[in-house]
Amino acid sequence: MSPAAAPSHPAPAWLEQRLRAAGGSVPFLTYMQWALHDPEHGAYGSGRLQVGPRGDFATSPSLGPDFAELLAPQLAQWLEALPGPEPLALVEAGPGEGDLALQLAQALQRQWPQLAVRTELVLIEPNPGMAERQRARLADAPLPCRWLSFEQLAQQPVRGVLLAHEVLDALAVERIEWDGSLWRRQRVALHEDPAAGPSLRLEPGEPLEPRIAAQLEPLGLVPAGAQRQSGWCTELHPGLGSWLQQAASALSDGALLVIDYAHEAWRYYAPQRSNGTLMAYRQQQATNDPLLEPGHWDLTAHLCIESLEAAAVAQGWSSLGHRRQGEALLALGLAQRLHGLQQQSGVPLDALLSRREALLRLVDPHALGDFRWLAFQRQDATSLPPALFLQDPPMA
Ligand SMILES: C[S@@+](CC[C@H](N)C(=O)[O-])C[C@H]1O[C@@H](n2cnc3c(N)ncnc32)[C@H](O)[C@@H]1O
Repeated sequence: MSPAAAPSHPAPAWLEQRLRAAGGSVPFLTYMQWALHDPEHGAYGSGRLQVGPRGDFATSPSLGPDFAELLAPQLAQWLEALPGPEPLALVEAGPGEGDLALQLAQALQRQWPQLAVRTELVLIEPNPGMAERQRARLADAPLPCRWLSFEQLAQQPVRGVLLAHEVLDALAVERIEWDGSLWRRQRVALHEDPAAGPSLRLEPGEPLEPRIAAQLEPLGLVPAGAQRQSGWCTELHPGLGSWLQQAASALSDGALLVIDYAHEAWRYYAPQRSNGTLMAYRQQQATNDPLLEPGHWDLTAHLCIESLEAAAVAQGWSSLGHRRQGEALLALGLAQRLHGLQQQSGVPLDALLSRREALLRLVDPHALGDFRWLAFQRQDATSLPPALFLQDPPMA
């Protein structure tokens, strides 16, 4: 791309001020943390982003209640496996608009009333703007609801299931760049443009410390090899360990289910993926340019499955297995549900067609169906039965 055609990234005043105060640049991780979670300027922190088909981006639960209704038997299986009669909790981290929590509470109450009477909803939402909307959405939820921080939960851990649906992809990532001989940490820098005013740029920063560079070998990034040109970049996930540690402190017994964009390391760090997995979403538009209008776009990066599993084991979790969402939902009865739509009488055709479309979107292998479900249980706690979502699909 010629310099004239390169996208321009004017720095908003708040960011310009922060970058000047930091000496002109910050690691990409700091920038992403600000752009997403700053309480005043961040896309989530300010409550600016809207989840849903009419908002900035759609997620599985925002397409309707089918996703939650298919997921509910899995959560009920785990909750039922925990010895009673003590209270149970369904904990959701990053509940977005609150759709999934509400739909799960309704499904539990309808289908497992004996479980529902001893289960509460616990919502973990660090961003005040989002928490406000969740309180409104869950005002009439059929289960008692509490909003707590991980720190508060660590003081009074609960037994149950912790669900993280499209949350870990919103943790700030480190971006690293190969310069032809060294791995460097990428930075976001202020560029003084006399004609257009201060603008933002990505630039290679300091070489990675040996401790961090040592993590690159199991990911297949060392040696970098001739296939990776200077400027090749990708992401690391330094926030995962502390998130998983907080999750482990929150749950004294039970399961953690992570549902998110994720790749195996060989696919994530393949030489041909020369710009990592970072994407920005706004008003149903997507771009791989993370510097566009900071604080107005959702920024997400995929998880690396091996890195997540290793970090989980180090924090007291053991893996129960993982599967693509398409296969997980088929194991939980999505095909039967689709078939059942044809048997319904008295439902308007357009309603049936839109449910059919939503069900197909959930398993589309080029979109939501490629998401991963990764399950864990607390080490040294109740041994949970083999997960339903890992079993063969029921016969049609
Ligand atoms: C992409 S939205 C997902 C919303 C919802 N789970 C869904 O699928 O519709 C990410 C949510 O996670 C929240 N979040 C971001 N960082 C978080 C963290 N460290 N812990 C818990 N929630 C977080 C955001 O504020 C937002 O509510």
